[in-house]
Amino acid sequence: MTKQTKSDKDYSIYFQPPSLKDAKKRGKEEVAVHYDFAIPQELQQFGAGKKYLIRTYGCQMNENDTETIKGLLEQMGYTETEEKTEADVILLNTCAIRENAEDKVFGELGHLKPLKTHNPNLVLGVCGCMSQEEAVVNRIMQKHAFVDLIFGTHNIHRLPQLLRDAAFGKEMVVEVWSKEGDIIENLPRKRAGMKAWVNIMYGCDKFCTYCIVPYTRGKERSRRPQDVLAEVRELARQGVQEVTLLGQNVNAYGKDFEDIDYTFGDLMDDIRKIDIPRVRFTTSHPRDFDDRLIEVLAKGGNLVEHIHLPVQSGSTEVLKLMSRKYSREQYLELVRKIKAAIPNAVLTTDIIVGFPNETDEQFEETLSLVREVGYDNAFTFIYSPRDGTPAAAMEDNVPAEVKKQRLQRLNEALMESSLAANLKLRGQVVEVLVEGESKTNANVLAGRTRTNKLVHFAGPKSLEGRMAYVRVTDAQTWTLKGELVEEPLQLSV
Ligand code: 5AD
Ligand code: SF4
Repeated sequence: MTKQTKSDKDYSIYFQPPSLKDAKKRGKEEVAVHYDFAIPQELQQFGAGKKYLIRTYGCQMNENDTETIKGLLEQMGYTETEEKTEADVILLNTCAIRENAEDKVFGELGHLKPLKTHNPNLVLGVCGCMSQEEAVVNRIMQKHAFVDLIFGTHNIHRLPQLLRDAAFGKEMVVEVWSKEGDIIENLPRKRAGMKAWVNIMYGCDKFCTYCIVPYTRGKERSRRPQDVLAEVRELARQGVQEVTLLGQNVNAYGKDFEDIDYTFGDLMDDIRKIDIPRVRFTTSHPRDFDDRLIEVLAKGGNLVEHIHLPVQSGSTEVLKLMSRKYSREQYLELVRKIKAAIPNAVLTTDIIVGFPNETDEQFEETLSLVREVGYDNAFTFIYSPRDGTPAAAMEDNVPAEVKKQRLQRLNEALMESSLAANLKLRGQVVEVLVEGESKTNANVLAGRTRTNKLVHFAGPKSLEGRMAYVRVTDAQTWTLKGELVEEPLQLSV
């Protein structure tokens, strides 16, 4: 049953509201891998002559899912549009990580509502992490009943059938499986450009106390190595210049295999041998970042020397409350090992300020850790309670003003360390993957170093999509300026 009337409350079978106890009971039952996905014959022309628009919120995992959704829609005959008034299908691929991400989506739904009056045939859908939350689905059914379709992160492959139901039915179509699905290998993908994401695993079993992801994305399931390697080889054959391996905790890759002993380090070692210029990965959990991986990354080559290593806090007590399963000292020891093995490694991180009970002293420990590690960049957040997570049961007792001040001080410390790192690059020659004209000045090109730093320099547009070599002439907090040079014998970063 997929169709639900707007007043029908009998859809709870699809949900397991976040519950740490239930979620931790996750069995080791085998995840089946399917290689036989196909869009039913009768739906292959369903979208002929019609247009779709997708808005994507949140992380790269969602961007990645959007590519699959676009692939499915295009195999149904739909074409993409940027113009919402000419779209026959509009999908919001949503993020649930913090409250402000959810607020943006509800705001957007309000803006889109008039389009439904303008075009009654428009199918308006909500998918992604928010649709995995029962409270969100309730709110949409009650307050945004003009929405036609809600589907979850485990139901993407069902989109063709769900769209048909939504287009023909008068009722809202809701399909959200709280239990994670199997792995479906041959879903279509719409990729563009010189960079590609490759999912190596789905879900997360870490259950950090503040985080909604283990509930919205389900348990950890790794793709089989041969499937990942085949996909990367095919991208190399197509001329893709950079691949980013994706997972919520890529360091746990392979831990769910029962028949083979094959870790993330092993996967990186195999990918290293594929002829693709750059390989990145995100995101790492320090607890699972093992020596084997460090040893493989130290071999360099196409494995770039940029490691995103979320720390979340510099205080061991706060880390304990967050259930991160490492101490400040263990994190710093890992950083030491990485820097010893990969001397030019660039580290970036994620940090949360204002976690329940975080004291001034504990926040100072975060600041001192930031200075000690010397990050080149970071994503910083104010703690946002997420319903059903263990932290949401703790009193959110750091005043909003204090949270804001901590965020500001943290960002200032990060700006300092980023600028210091960038200034050290002046005079050096870096390899740049050229992305195209700069967004702010059409007379210069913009590209990224191996360490993901943005570089602006003058050069011919024909370099777009290719590697160039640039001598850094000037450094700012978040960007570098440079001049094009011949390919050097020795590169810096
Ligand atoms: N509040 C604030 N930040 C959060 N993150 C995850 N959950 C929350 C939350 N409830 C941050 C973490 C994570 C990043 C993707 O988002 O820093 O690494
Ligand atoms: Fe969330 Fe990352 Fe922790 Fe998993 S490892 S629970 S995705 S913060």
